[in-house]
Amino acid sequence: MRPLNRRQFLALGVSSASAVFLASRVTGQSLPPAPNQYVSKDGLLDIALDARYEAVNLAGEQAYLYSYNGQIPAPQLEAKPGDSVRIRFTNNLPQPTNIHYHGLHVPPTGNADNIFLNIPSGETFTYEFTIPDNHPGGTFYYHPHLHGWVAEQVFAGLGGAFIIRGELDAIPEIQAAQEVFLFLKDFDLDANGRVPQPWHMAQMMGREGSLVTANGQVNPTLSIPKGGLLRLRLVNASTSRFYRLALEDHPLYLIATDGIPLSEPVELRELLLTPGERAEILVRGEREPNQYRLLALPYNRGGMGMMGGGMMGRGMMGRGMGSGMMVQSDWESTRNLATLTYAGQVETLPLPQKLIPVETLPEPQRVRRFILNHGMSPGMGMVFLINGRAFDHQRVDTQVSLNTIEDWEITNTGVMDHPFHLHTNPFQVISRNGQPESFRAWKDTVLVRAGETVRFRVRFTDFPGKTVYHCHILDHEDLGMMGTIEMQKSS
Ligand code: C2O
Ligand code: CU
Ligand code: CU
Repeated sequence: MRPLNRRQFLALGVSSASAVFLASRVTGQSLPPAPNQYVSKDGLLDIALDARYEAVNLAGEQAYLYSYNGQIPAPQLEAKPGDSVRIRFTNNLPQPTNIHYHGLHVPPTGNADNIFLNIPSGETFTYEFTIPDNHPGGTFYYHPHLHGWVAEQVFAGLGGAFIIRGELDAIPEIQAAQEVFLFLKDFDLDANGRVPQPWHMAQMMGREGSLVTANGQVNPTLSIPKGGLLRLRLVNASTSRFYRLALEDHPLYLIATDGIPLSEPVELRELLLTPGERAEILVRGEREPNQYRLLALPYNRGGMGMMGGGMMGRGMMGRGMGSGMMVQSDWESTRNLATLTYAGQVETLPLPQKLIPVETLPEPQRVRRFILNHGMSPGMGMVFLINGRAFDHQRVDTQVSLNTIEDWEITNTGVMDHPFHLHTNPFQVISRNGQPESFRAWKDTVLVRAGETVRFRVRFTDFPGKTVYHCHILDHEDLGMMGTIEMQKSS
């Protein structure tokens, strides 16, 4: 199982083409540099984070971005079930902000995952919460969440991965795999390296940028030994961009969705990751040494009927044009997100047969319906609505009782796709347009395509208080497609 060194590998008699490729590997980099990692010690993750606006290096160029601690992506946080988390946060941005811990099952109130907090410019706030003892191990995501500012702040660079080390990590086949994090994020920079203000149309579409990065790099190289296993932990940290992922000549073995393990690996040809979604996949080093591209395949997430050539053509909207908007010509193209190479050889590692059981939830006590759509509002232009209403933090839209199970049926009657996200409690998708889902999985964000109805089941147990559900195209959230939920102890 010991990896071969380079001489032993060459002694295997690789073809000259592979030898050339190997030489380039030795001089090149192997893994994309992981962001700085902060791991809990003695049951406590205690770190100082600040949000700031300054010049950073992004994919080899100077860019003026918003960042946590000057890093793109932000420091990677890691804790275990049962750990306490203390984040001493300072807002050095010229505008208010806050932090949301996307997907974590922690209280949505007080100084925990409270997205109603407003931390003004120049102020400090300490977040404190405990990761429950029974919290699943997986890939989570922290990012700003102050309504009205979210898309701007995420698009300018804010966001990082939050890892919980748990049961999945203890499975021997998973432990044997090489772990690589890919934090996917797109940027739009003008000629001076600044993020331009988006056009109104770009906000309505959901702003996208043409600089597509993985861990702040363009097309980084990852390597796998022949026979080895790679565990890719993916976060879609983009404001609006969808990634329809495929790895040339390699099936993807999905092992976790939105931070929660599946019961067993699911083999896929491709995987669509919408904003806010995370996925963990295993890749087997089962091909001949060569270069294989991790691709983002074309995906059209729907428009206003004004896109494409003509007035919104790509010529007007290219990089540096201050648009923040990619058009359908971009959605029709294929992008190379990263490149997988082979280096060395190990005895063939098996895939795990079983992961962590995903329970079947009992029948719901109640069914609720939500309609996603958009409309025109005088003076505001397009607004994005849930059940005909735009977000109002003072209104409670949905009241649920703890210790109940509900089905939520989300119907998208609009013309654009909307990834629907619920805070605090994960759910299981039951059906799409009446068709049962092919495997059981926990999710916190689910794509509801234009014209589609998705039904999911959610259990409310602990954590009373108010939080939100919304479209994770963050411009749509800022433009109103968000509702409040209040979870109450049953009387
Ligand atoms: Cu990732 Cu309410 O958000
Ligand atoms: Cu969230
Ligand atoms: Cu949306």
